[in-house]
Amino acid sequence: MKIIQLTDTHLMPPGAVVNGVDPERQLRLAVEDILARHGDADLMVITGDLCNHGDPEAYALLREILAPVPFELRLLIGNHDRRPEFRDAFPEHPVDGQGFVQSFMDTDHGRLLFLDTHEAGMIGGLYGADRMAFLDEALAGAGDVPVTVFIHHPPFDCGIGHFDKIGLHDDGALMQRLGAHAGGVRHIVFGHIHIPMAGTAANGIAYSSGQATGHRFITDLADPCPWWTGGNPTYRILLLDGHGLRAYTAETSQLATSRAARCEGP
Ligand SMILES: [Fe+2]
Repeated sequence: MKIIQLTDTHLMPPGAVVNGVDPERQLRLAVEDILARHGDADLMVITGDLCNHGDPEAYALLREILAPVPFELRLLIGNHDRRPEFRDAFPEHPVDGQGFVQSFMDTDHGRLLFLDTHEAGMIGGLYGADRMAFLDEALAGAGDVPVTVFIHHPPFDCGIGHFDKIGLHDDGALMQRLGAHAGGVRHIVFGHIHIPMAGTAANGIAYSSGQATGHRFITDLADPCPWWTGGNPTYRILLLDGHGLRAYTAETSQLATSRAARCEGP
């Protein structure tokens, strides 16, 4: 299956600029490109920080921009979001029994898990016993089928100074649960850090982030106060199939220089 990942769209009411970038323009360009090139996708996931301040006008704008998307949509909330305002704007979006924006989806290539790490008033994420009940049930239901996890906050140390104290505050509980899943974990797909990153956790689980659709950082692992920057909107194409999970970054608005020759091999 083909999944499109966007992350950290940070929408504001129309006309507002966030850290030097117009998030509405960025998202409109990305969605336009996705519709033109990936009408055959099965699912779009936005891995959190949908809106910069979680205001109703921004969620209404998000809804309007996403309206033409013809395939299934799952939205995660991040630290910049507000759960009540999100749920008011997207009342049909699945939530768990306690109102967290969590759900799962069964596919031919395993169970997809969409987790909610947002906690009002915090920049880092939380994943306590109340949310873990959903995860435990979803993992038990998956049995020996692999899962692929979508989450805003990375549930491991991402090794970037700015995020040292604002990761997922769960003492490793989530990774322990995932590591113990009988069916294995295909991948953890996350956001929050606004730059592309890929790695393998100590327990062998592979993970990667997308680049923020809106503002992103000039990559600096040590500086706790790195610079924001703009750039062409990006999104990722995730292929989940018999090969496992493969992720590709796509950048919109690029200028072509010359066409590559066809390579017939060997
Ligand atoms: Fe963000």
